[in-house]
This record gives sequence, structure tokens and C-alpha cells, in this order.
Amino acid sequence: MTLLKCENLELGYEGRTIAKDISFSVDSGDYLCIVGENGSGKSTLMKTILGLHKAMAGTITFCSGFKQTSIGYLPQQTVVQRDFPASVEEIVRSGCLNHQRLQLLYTKEQKGLARDNMEKLGIADLAKSSYRELSGGQQQRVLLARALCATRSYFY
Ligand SMILES: Nc1ncnc2c1ncn2[C@@H]1O[C@H](COP(=O)(O)OP(=O)(O)O)[C@@H](O)[C@H]1O
Ligand SMILES: [Mg+2]
Repeated sequence: MTLLKCENLELGYEGRTIAKDISFSVDSGDYLCIVGENGSGKSTLMKTILGLHKAMAGTITFCSGFKQTSIGYLPQQTVVQRDFPASVEEIVRSGCLNHQRLQLLYTKEQKGLARDNMEKLGIADLAKSSYRELSGGQQQRVLLARALCATRSYFY
């Protein structure tokens, strides 16, 4: 079952092309690695698929009920993000928030989903720890658990 199809994508900024002729599709269950040197356009491709950046040419098609909001994205961390003053649990739960809707408290289901994803990533015992005091690898796990909370339960 095809979920996503990119055809003849051309990526760039302000009229300057970074990569072109990018065509591929992603099927359910696929594990796809996008490999390239620093600055070759991997993050730009992800930002374009997520709708955060506009492609210079080509098309992106979402299929089989798969949507942009079905994607969980774990970006590279900036130095400022590494020092974020919140607990692990708060950060993972925040992945459940829907940006189209204001929500002040988490539901029981959202708390459960956050707990499940923390267990999946082996960080349940760090739930109350301060994110800024974790190791780099532990922080990555926290952000991955958060991204899993944001995938809108598509595969579960
Ligand atoms: N916001 C931006 N404005 C202009 N150029 C950018 C911007 N972001 C990235 N670039 C440039 O686009 C190219 C690809 O960057 P990027 O997609 O981040 O590469 P990668 O993730 O493969 O390391 C680089 O040359 C980078 O300098
Ligand atoms: Mg990158």
C-alpha cells in the first residue's frame, strides 16, 4: 500500500536549486534511509514533505488516507533545545498536542500514549527527570518518543 509518492521534486531556496529529479514512493512498512553529505538537502526534503518549505517543482502525493499530520518528525537538535527546561514526561506528552486546537490538559489516552512510547524507548524511569540534565542519547530518545506521539496513531 503506497502512502507517499514524490515525483520529479526540485528543492531549493530563493531560486537556487539544491537537488532535483527526486522521485520515490514509500509503502506501508517501508524503512527508507536518505543518505547524503552535509548540505546535500536531506533536511530540506523532509521540510518539503512536511509542508514547511515549498518545492521549486514536482509533486508530492499523499495516498491511502495518509496525511502530512500522520508523520512524526525528529529533527536535529539545536544547542538551545538541548537546554530546554521541562521534564521528560512533559516533552513526550507535548507530541500529542494538536496545533489546530487549543488544549490545556492532557486526556487519559494521551497520557497513556506518552507512557507507552516512553516504555518503548526505554526511558519510562526518566519520566520525572529534567530534560536538560540528560545525556545526548537520552535526549534523542525523548524526542523520538515525542515524535511517535505525534504520528496520529496511523500505524497502531
Ligand atoms: N533556510 C535556508 N535558506 C537558504 N538556504 C538554506 C536554508 N536551509 C538550508 N539551506 C541550504 O540548503 C542546502 C541543503 O541544506 P540541508 O537540507 O539542511 O542539508 P542536509 O540536511 O542534507 O545536511 C545547504 O546548502 C544549506 O546551506
Ligand atoms: Mg540535515
